[in-house]
Amino acid sequence: MAMQTGCCSAAPAVLLLLVVAAAGASVAGATYVRYKDHKQPIQARVEDLLGRMRIEEKIGQMTQIERHNASSAVIEKYFVGSVLSGGGSAPSEKASAATWQEMITKMQKAALSTRLGIPILYGIDAVHGNNNAYNATIFPHNVGLGATRDPDLVKRIGRATALEARATGIPYTFAPCVAVCRDPRWGGCYESFSEDTKLVQLMTSAVIPGLQGDVSSKHPRGVPFVGGTKHVAACAKHFVGDGGTHHGISANNTVLSFHDLMRIHMPPYYDAVIKGVSSVMISYSSWNGVKMHENKYLITQILKEKMHFRCGGWTKSWQGQSGNGITGHGTTILEAIKSAVDKKTIIDYSEHPDKGNVSKNEDEYDYAVVVVGEHPYAAAAGDNLNLTIPGPGPEVIRKVCELVKCVVVLVSGRPLVVEPYLDTMDALVAAWLPGTEGHGVADVLFGDHGFSGKLPRTWVRSVDQLPMNYGDKLYDPLFPFGFGLTTKPADRS
Ligand SMILES: *[C@@H]1O[C@H](CO)[C@@H](O)[C@H](O)[C@H]1NC(C)=O
Ligand SMILES: *[C@@H]1O[C@H](CO)[C@@H](O)[C@H](O)[C@H]1NC(C)=O
Ligand SMILES: *[C@@H]1O[C@H](CO)[C@@H](O)[C@H](O)[C@H]1NC(C)=O
Ligand SMILES: *[C@@H]1O[C@H](CO)[C@@H](O)[C@H](O)[C@H]1NC(C)=O
Ligand SMILES: *[C@@H]1O[C@H](CO)[C@@H](O)[C@H](O)[C@H]1NC(C)=O
Repeated sequence: MAMQTGCCSAAPAVLLLLVVAAAGASVAGATYVRYKDHKQPIQARVEDLLGRMRIEEKIGQMTQIERHNASSAVIEKYFVGSVLSGGGSAPSEKASAATWQEMITKMQKAALSTRLGIPILYGIDAVHGNNNAYNATIFPHNVGLGATRDPDLVKRIGRATALEARATGIPYTFAPCVAVCRDPRWGGCYESFSEDTKLVQLMTSAVIPGLQGDVSSKHPRGVPFVGGTKHVAACAKHFVGDGGTHHGISANNTVLSFHDLMRIHMPPYYDAVIKGVSSVMISYSSWNGVKMHENKYLITQILKEKMHFRCGGWTKSWQGQSGNGITGHGTTILEAIKSAVDKKTIIDYSEHPDKGNVSKNEDEYDYAVVVVGEHPYAAAAGDNLNLTIPGPGPEVIRKVCELVKCVVVLVSGRPLVVEPYLDTMDALVAAWLPGTEGHGVADVLFGDHGFSGKLPRTWVRSVDQLPMNYGDKLYDPLFPFGFGLTTKPADRS
């Protein structure tokens, strides 16, 4: 059965359909209840249900609470409509998929036991894979996906993420982030596919059908869509202008003319709505000094009336951690390198290489692979005004690359200031935030696959140049938007 979901203003409609799925069997024999009759038109069922709801039930249905607080008693008492996992919030550190399912089923039973039996909608930040769940596949963050220029790959990643979320009993993800990040000082910049609106649109149009399934050409515009139990409801976020704030400060003020807001930040929402996105999350940021949550013009007149999205948006955003820490399975870059090389090759690994022992053995080393990068962060905690490589990164690059032929692999959510060290390096690889599969990095380092990624962002020389984006009149980057060497796989013959 195709299921439709949405949120906030349209939440009762959403939940209605879930009621039918869960409680349909109990209809027969009981007093006829129109909203439970799946043969009735949706609008008639929505009206019937709304007509039965008391004010406290409506308030509860418009409320989303964190799983820590979602006991059966709370769900029953307050008629809670939705529950979320905040960043890193899981039933236990290494909870299995079955444990997740049991937790959600318990909540669902509580919700179904209430007067109207409206099920809860459970949502999670599955933003690069189902990243709060132990053993989930962690895919690269959006900035790395932007570098692939491969919408088909991004669609397949959406599909896999949906399956892994469903395996834990979760039907709803707060993804994709369709921000157009214009200033890499923003901590959330890696959640953006690109600084280029067209590239963000291309990936938005791919990842939403990956997560939700494909809408048919006859699907009415603006009507939320989820294509069955192997897909999840998606959420385009953060509406709108989240990637355009002053100095990249999280949730700050985006100062822009209406024309530029519509030109740079709005287009991905058109694509999201056309693909049947199930919800839209409103940004904590402001536009020209007015908080987005109070911007009736952009939310009601533009998003709902002009773009024909019939849902509002969650009023609750998320500031937690993402995609770092203990993920269960996966391969580190070091493990991947070890399994890539010939058995006779000796690998010396040091977290803090010491100049003495590098120089002692320098003639013995053919190559050094220097992996440096940013510490994990998310959202506001990642705002950074200097974009320098954190210590001891620069020191390690200098110590090692002066003595041994080296490739520097930079693991970061955005371009960092690398110009001062370029002369000492023989090669530089921007790995972005590559996820759990270190083989993806080793495969290109050792020539099993060629390099093909192209910069989804302008690589600046220094923060003094920011904001500086592709298409600007003054454009003097270290590496321009779209830069990237293309290499062939190594010839092993
Ligand atoms: C919600 O859960 C958190 C974490 O357990 C707790 O600190 C907080 O007090 C709870 N809030 C309410 C209103 O119960
Ligand atoms: C995680 O994956 C490993 C290896 O596949 C498996 O042995 C383990 O049972 C899994 N743990 C959970 C909680 O799923
Ligand atoms: C933007 O950030 C500045 C500095 O932190 C703060 O004073 C200001 O209130 C913020 N503006 C908005 C609209 O959030
Ligand atoms: C470098 O020297 C330290 C001790 O000074 C030693 O523990 C480490 O194994 C050496 N590393 C390499 C790569 O030889
Ligand atoms: C750069 O900014 C980050 C984040 O604010 C800070 O932790 C770090 O110490 C700064 N680095 C330098 C070299 O100033």
